[in-house]
Amino acid sequence: QAISGLTIAIDGPSGSGKGTVAKMLADEVGLPVLDTGLLYRLVGSVALSRDVALDSADALADLVDQLLMSIDWTVEGVFLDGENITGSLRSEQVGEAASKVASQPEVREKLLALQHQLAKAGCIMDGRDIGTVVLPDAPAKFFLTASIRERARRRWAQLKDDGGSTLEAVVDELKMRDQRDRERQHAPLCQAADAITIDSTTMRVDDVVDRMLGVLERRGLIQ
Ligand code: DC
Repeated sequence: QAISGLTIAIDGPSGSGKGTVAKMLADEVGLPVLDTGLLYRLVGSVALSRDVALDSADALADLVDQLLMSIDWTVEGVFLDGENITGSLRSEQVGEAASKVASQPEVREKLLALQHQLAKAGCIMDGRDIGTVVLPDAPAKFFLTASIRERARRRWAQLKDDGGSTLEAVVDELKMRDQRDRERQHAPLCQAADAITIDSTTMRVDDVVDRMLGVLERRGLIQ
């Protein structure tokens, strides 16, 4: 069980397994999981459906202002006007749009307050800039990675059932997304100096979670 108000940051590139690991860790320590990628996905998705240019800082800033009044972001996902729309945010197309709108500083700035507000009560938060920007004082930070090939293989295995993409195409898409997320000027994907890196390329998910639990235990963050 986690000590009261504990915040845990999990960052890493697309397909590194953050979501799965965060959920399993949450089950062990009894904390809610907040997936920050969903916020950027929401902005990307609504921008696509309303024909808002994905590189227009002003239009996107207005869109985020509007969305902040009508969304509810919870452990169950994102609710827009009361409806859980999380499922519709999981597509590759929306992921791509999310990565583009996420490079706009105004968008990031506006989403920051909401993330701070929800993290206060204690949570596991996953994203790209949690350990560096959103929760720089989190007492436990993990940076999850895996080789590009392995990340692509995992993603491809999920997508395969829908038909379409080849493994090579997924490798190329991931490379582009990584590059955009790492090279953007504002809050890029990077490891916090005090984060613990876990390379999951050849690890089972259970072992990744065990390693995290070991860190939390040694630091006296779980009882
Ligand atoms: O983790 P994800 O695939 O759901 O994230 C989608 C995009 O959102 C990702 O390519 C970059 C952006 N993102 C971000 O910039 N900062 C975060 N904390 C989370 C996601």
